Amino acid sequence: MNLKIQTLSGYFHEYQKSVLEPEKFWGRIAETFHWKKKWDNVVDWNFEEPSVKWFVNGKMNITENMLDRHLFTSADKTAILWEPNDPNEAHRTITYQELYDLVCQFSNTLKAQGVEKGDRVIIYMPMVPEAAIAMMACARIGAVHSVVFAGFSSTALADRINDCQAKMVITSDGNFRGAKKIPVKSVVDEALENTTSVEKVITLKRTGEEVTMKEGRDLWWHEAIQGNEGPCPAEAMDSEDMLFILYTSGSTGKPKGVVHTCGGYMVYTHFTFTNVFQYQADDIFWCSADVGWITGHSYIVYGPLLAGASMVMFEGVPTYPGPDRFWQVIDKYKVNQFYTAPTAIRALQAFGQEPLEGYSLSSLKVLGTVGEPINEEAWHWYHAFVGKGKCPIVDTWWQTETGGIMISPIAGITPTKPSYATLPLPGIQLTILDDQGNELKGNSVEGNLCVKFPWPSMLRTTYGDHDRCKQVYFSMFKGYYFTGDGVKRDEDGYYRILGRVDDVINVSGHRMGTAEVENAINEHPKVVESAVVGYDHEIKGQGIYAYVIADTTDRTEENLIKEIKLTVSNIIGPIARPDKIQIVTGLPKTRSGKIMRRILRKIANGEVSNFGDTSTLLDPSVVDQIIEGALQKA
Ligand code: WTA
Repeated sequence: MNLKIQTLSGYFHEYQKSVLEPEKFWGRIAETFHWKKKWDNVVDWNFEEPSVKWFVNGKMNITENMLDRHLFTSADKTAILWEPNDPNEAHRTITYQELYDLVCQFSNTLKAQGVEKGDRVIIYMPMVPEAAIAMMACARIGAVHSVVFAGFSSTALADRINDCQAKMVITSDGNFRGAKKIPVKSVVDEALENTTSVEKVITLKRTGEEVTMKEGRDLWWHEAIQGNEGPCPAEAMDSEDMLFILYTSGSTGKPKGVVHTCGGYMVYTHFTFTNVFQYQADDIFWCSADVGWITGHSYIVYGPLLAGASMVMFEGVPTYPGPDRFWQVIDKYKVNQFYTAPTAIRALQAFGQEPLEGYSLSSLKVLGTVGEPINEEAWHWYHAFVGKGKCPIVDTWWQTETGGIMISPIAGITPTKPSYATLPLPGIQLTILDDQGNELKGNSVEGNLCVKFPWPSMLRTTYGDHDRCKQVYFSMFKGYYFTGDGVKRDEDGYYRILGRVDDVINVSGHRMGTAEVENAINEHPKVVESAVVGYDHEIKGQGIYAYVIADTTDRTEENLIKEIKLTVSNIIGPIARPDKIQIVTGLPKTRSGKIMRRILRKIANGEVSNFGDTSTLLDPSVVDQIIEGALQKA
């Protein structure tokens, strides 16, 4: 049995132990898994290089812990309850035995197609069980998966394929999303025109639309798996072998491939899943994220299946066919723990309480949120109308880089406070630093959120560029992991996340680098220069506001703005499309050429004064012109 915290004093006690004797603490938890060979040391680390190794020289396979070991006790237990986009289509129930068989069959298929340990495989798929099966099949044979959210464009997909030099792409013909049918395979085809590493593409038939299949490269999933039934031995993986790469946005340049390894990720996702949500053996867990994001990796696929849980996987969107879809699904499967994003809560809150009528939601025990700060109003609505006042809310703070939940209440145990992620989980040694790098001790302080001791599921590197990992996360404050978030520790020692302090915008819980969006905007031939900032958005949390210098001699501003939005959709994907674009004649730059984003952020948020010190501006009149333009738009 994994360690299960049951009381508040138990939490404090375990936290103490985890800080005083981390090796003993994590070693004891790791012993509850199946290892092919035990580790020599629990952890070796330094944050200078950085170099972090957990369960050193241990050998294991994460899928043996997700599948094989549950077969002894719960082969017939439901692993996946799959709810399709269209409620009239039959749902699917997959038991642990069936999942094991399917994963083995697909593992054998990958091998038959030449995929070997260490090879990178891109998964670009809708939310269907085969996406999870593909991930586990890679893990079983030691291939490294990199799931790319199926809403990204062909250019974004090609960039990721090229960065990790993927040998294979696993995809589908199309994707049902609400009332829409979205082409998927054709996006892959387009991407592959600009890549050279991919040898094979396996396509799952989902929507039945026409696709082109290239001789020698393309295979249908249902044909490729023929004859590959039967067990597939689980590859012995070193704890520190790569498990997956997941691309995420940072403040500079192109997205980076965050690397997670096998042993520590396994131990930590299981530990946090069972503790934070207080998952019990017969519960039904539902995380509404997409497997294209870290939340889907850790709390749809890895955490729940490691725990032998029954989980719901949902293909659709919260508002299709109506804004009661979430509540319908919760009642249909008697969901006990529901984990979603504040942006979804706010979007549904906007429909009022009517869509909730007629649903009992009485199975719910725990509600969770993730991905962005939750405002108090949304928190209270979620608590009162979804949880009927009886379900604790776990506001979980973490990141792609952290692999698992870092700061969160333990459901029903840690007293909550709306919009506070509350306290660090055992093993997580937080600290708050001021801009000069001094530790701010005690309570009622605010600053940069850092971590001073490694935890098992932390990122190990950024793929192909270790120096970037060092620069981005370990150089700002020497000897610490820097999260990029601002935080407040209140008078009770509770943590409240204040949002990013770098140039990352969080749009509907999706991370966007301002530089990345600017680069896409600048691809438009009429654009001279652009500056992107975030602004407060009622539903999305943050919206994207772009100030653009452009040549409008041969087209209307309105048309140009439409074209720029389309350009961004094509280069990154619809999620990066700016909400507002203002055509300007100049940008507020300092004499050294740096754009003063602070001013642009204020104007985007409707503030027209109190810009602080603007004495370093090259041309202060630019600011007045921008304000004038912004007021005209408002
Ligand atoms: C933000 C998502 C406030 C934060 C798991 C972080 C949050 C970024 C919360 C990571 C929360 C995540 N409260 N902010 N509970 N959870 N964030 O990598 O700014 O997609 O740095 O991982 O989302 O986003 P990512």
